[in-house]
Amino acid sequence: MAEPVLDALGRPLGSLRLSVTDRCNLRCSYCMPEEDYAWLPRESLLTFEELSRLTRLFTSLGARKVRLTGGEPLLRRDLPELVRMLSLDPEIDDLALTTNGLLLSRQIDALAGAGLRRVTVSLDTLSPERFLSLARSPRHADVLDGIEAVERRALGLKLNTVVMRGVNDDELVPLLRFAKQHGAELRFIEYMDVGGATGWSEEYVVSRAEMLGRIRTELGGVEEISEPGSRAPAERFRLADGQTFGIIASTTAPFCRTCDRSRITADGTWFLCLYAAEGLDLRAPLRDGATDDELRRLIARHWAERKDRGAELRAEAPARAPLYQLTSLRADPHREMHTRGG
Ligand code: GTP
Ligand code: 5AD
Ligand code: SF4
Repeated sequence: MAEPVLDALGRPLGSLRLSVTDRCNLRCSYCMPEEDYAWLPRESLLTFEELSRLTRLFTSLGARKVRLTGGEPLLRRDLPELVRMLSLDPEIDDLALTTNGLLLSRQIDALAGAGLRRVTVSLDTLSPERFLSLARSPRHADVLDGIEAVERRALGLKLNTVVMRGVNDDELVPLLRFAKQHGAELRFIEYMDVGGATGWSEEYVVSRAEMLGRIRTELGGVEEISEPGSRAPAERFRLADGQTFGIIASTTAPFCRTCDRSRITADGTWFLCLYAAEGLDLRAPLRDGATDDELRRLIARHWAERKDRGAELRAEAPARAPLYQLTSLRADPHREMHTRGG
């Protein structure tokens, strides 16, 4: 087996995020706050054959984790078929899905049957009223049904909560209790100034330190779990009763130094960093008849030049504001978090 390719900062190409659609059926205020969006043209979307071929090339260069994201990935028609195709690749150790959960209970049997073993569901609030204002949807109950469906099928379950001051920061402990009841690992995520988060401002960010302080006040001791060598974005903690949870502190304590992830948008643009200004078009060579070797060389060369550490550079900036203004997001939807895959 080939050694994984290293980037210019010595980081291996390890984890690949495939965004299968830029569409979403929610409008979470931290990701898609606008009334309307410019979408990727339909004919530019990679087919499942193209996505699986690219994935095989990435795994031949060392990628071992593959995560399907969106937009909302369950909006992509026949997604279980893609899962089935990817699960045939023996080099993938970890095939997972990040979803908002709305369509999950309907699709879970097909997804599990196709080989999916792990699901992460976004859950920012336990209140349907809050969900209505936060995500502009009355379908909170469908998210909860989706979570229960994953639990019933005994798949690995994580819950993601983006914590925003004055919005849901009073729900840390109720969300922890909910996660425990459903056998899920909850991760609190610091609100990030990514493309598309046009309402971002420092005052909404609840830092890891503040979250831990609040949880300690309500629940007592919180022990940090040491995981040397981990490339996961979440730092993990244990409560006195043994329950574990994570915090993803991308805003105040970025993990760029160990970041082995890259992302392919639904139209085949490869981004080396969530914050990268430009991506590499893989669709054109793919459709122009490039051979596997040619594509592999292109990917390896591009990764070898990677120096990105977007979140660290953002954190070093003296004054922080949203990454892009609306006009520049409209000019190129690739700048949106929902196109890059969260
Ligand atoms: P596992 O740890 O493998 O379960 O997955 P994950 O945590 O990578 O996946 P998930 O899709 O749940 O991502 C969790 C959150 O981490 C996202 O919602 C983002 O807020 C943040 N995140 C994901 N990818 C990146 C990245 O490339 N850079 C940074 N800085 N943050 C990221
Ligand atoms: N800050 C933090 N996380 C975000 N996500 C989307 N936008 C943001 C943001 N501004 C995350 C959501 C979801 C994943 C798909 O992307 O938490 O779990
Ligand atoms: Fe990796 Fe870029 Fe995210 Fe840093 S900001 S962790 S380099 S993707």
